Amino acid sequence: MSRRDDVLAALRVDGPVSGETLARRLGVSRAAVAKHVNALRDLGYVIDAEAGSGYWLREVPDALIPEEVAARLMSDRWGPVTGSGETGSTNEDCKRLAREGAPDGTVVIASRQTAGRGRLGRVWDSPEGGVYLSALVRPALLPAQAPPMALSVALGIVEGLGALGIDAGVKWPNDVWTSDGGKLAGVLVEMSAETDRVEWIVVGVGLNVARPKNPTEGAAYSSDLRPGTTPTEVAAAVLDGMSRAIARFEAEGFAALREAYERVLVIARADVKVSDMHGRVVAVGKVVGVDDFGRLLVERDGETLRVAAGEVTLRDDSDRRRP
Ligand code: BTN
Repeated sequence: MSRRDDVLAALRVDGPVSGETLARRLGVSRAAVAKHVNALRDLGYVIDAEAGSGYWLREVPDALIPEEVAARLMSDRWGPVTGSGETGSTNEDCKRLAREGAPDGTVVIASRQTAGRGRLGRVWDSPEGGVYLSALVRPALLPAQAPPMALSVALGIVEGLGALGIDAGVKWPNDVWTSDGGKLAGVLVEMSAETDRVEWIVVGVGLNVARPKNPTEGAAYSSDLRPGTTPTEVAAAVLDGMSRAIARFEAEGFAALREAYERVLVIARADVKVSDMHGRVVAVGKVVGVDDFGRLLVERDGETLRVAAGEVTLRDDSDRRRP
């Protein structure tokens, strides 16, 4: 934690704290405390200075600020939480940190990306107001065990949003959809591995918070989240949900999450077409669930196909279960 974070942490009490007390507690001068308080004010914190009693934290900003996300986290898996308002891509930032040896749990967040990346080499449109975050996981997994990580993360996002009262579901493999059928979040998982060891996994999540619907082929399209929910609350809730799901996946494998995943699978029982990354159709039929490895089960003429990867298109929209 930086000194500014220390000052902020010390101000998060119900009442005023004197500059002298803060200076003594943190081992810095009163002038240094005043400098950090002013820096916090520049970030949007409302801090009153009351004669005789000291500094009083009155309001925290709505903007996505790493310290605010960190302060709201219930899980102790994540940290340090870093980032700034704008970056190219939080996944690129997080991968750089991973290569530099950053610890498991490192998180990078941004409220805008200028070079956001989606799955299959697509662009991830990342205007101001969204939540863009990447988390570094150093799991004890073999490379072959890693693929269901993305599904586990999607489930964690849905559960995290559920804790905020936001109803969402998963479209296999790892898209998060709202109840009105809009894409609310996407997950991009990138990995560095040797043949017998995963070195790191970077889990990138892009959430469309309070943006107008804009279905653009190849880019993000969105729905509004619950009005009044701040990006900071969303980021913290999503990270908490992810932490629970990832921990379970690491400890017990995807089999332990399978039922929960199927409960929120918005394409359950839908007639679908699944295409591979080249657009070739690999399965057509009715979705009957996923298996213990996260493969999609597609049934046709009494035969069940197991699809490990692909893009799902609905063939009959009326059949889709709403989350
Ligand atoms: C998808 O195509 O559905 C996945 C989109 C993932 C976007 C997120 S936003 C945060 C992180 N940084 C990126 O550049 N991409 C991921």
